[in-house]
Amino acid sequence: MVKVCFVCLGNICRSPTAEAIFLDLVEKANLSDSFQVESAGTAGYHVGEKADKRSRETAASHGITILSRSRKFTADDADNFDYIIAMDLNNKDDLSLLAGGKTIHLLRDFDDSSPKSAAVPDPYYGGDDGFQKVFEICRRGCEGLLEHIKSKDLV
Ligand code: 4NP
Repeated sequence: MVKVCFVCLGNICRSPTAEAIFLDLVEKANLSDSFQVESAGTAGYHVGEKADKRSRETAASHGITILSRSRKFTADDADNFDYIIAMDLNNKDDLSLLAGGKTIHLLRDFDDSSPKSAAVPDPYYGGDDGFQKVFEICRRGCEGLLEHIKSKDLV
C-alpha cells in the first residue's frame, strides 16, 4: 500500500483537486487496492467544509467528483504518509517543520514540462479561469507522480 497525501493551504481548492484527479487515475489504472490517497491543509480555516464550489464544478466539467472535506495536516500524517505532496514552496516549508526531516515533494516537480520548484498557483482569490488552469496543472503533476510511483514502488 502506497500512502499519498496532497497538501495546500486551505484544503478546499488545490489539494482536493489533485486528490480527486489522482484517485481517478489510480482507479483507471486498476490500482485502487495499492493506494491510500488523501488531502489536507497547512491551515485550519476551512476544516470540515466541502471543497470550494468552483473547484468542484471545474472537476465535474472533466467528469471528476471531489468528495473530500477540509482537514488540517498533522504530525501523525507526516509519519503515516509515504508521499507528502505540497502545492507550493510555502506549503513545503510549513510541512517541513512538522515532518522532521522527511522529504516533502512539490507536485509540479513530477511534471517534466514544468520549471523546477514551480507552484500550483492559488486560485482562491482569482477568477474561474484560474480553476481550469489549476486543474490542468494538477492533472499533469498527478500523471507524472503516478508514473514515478509505478516505476519506483509498484515494481
Ligand atoms: P487552497 O486555496 O490552499 O488551494 O485550498 C485557499 C483556500 C482558502 C484560503 C487560501 C487559499 N483562505 O485564505 O481562506
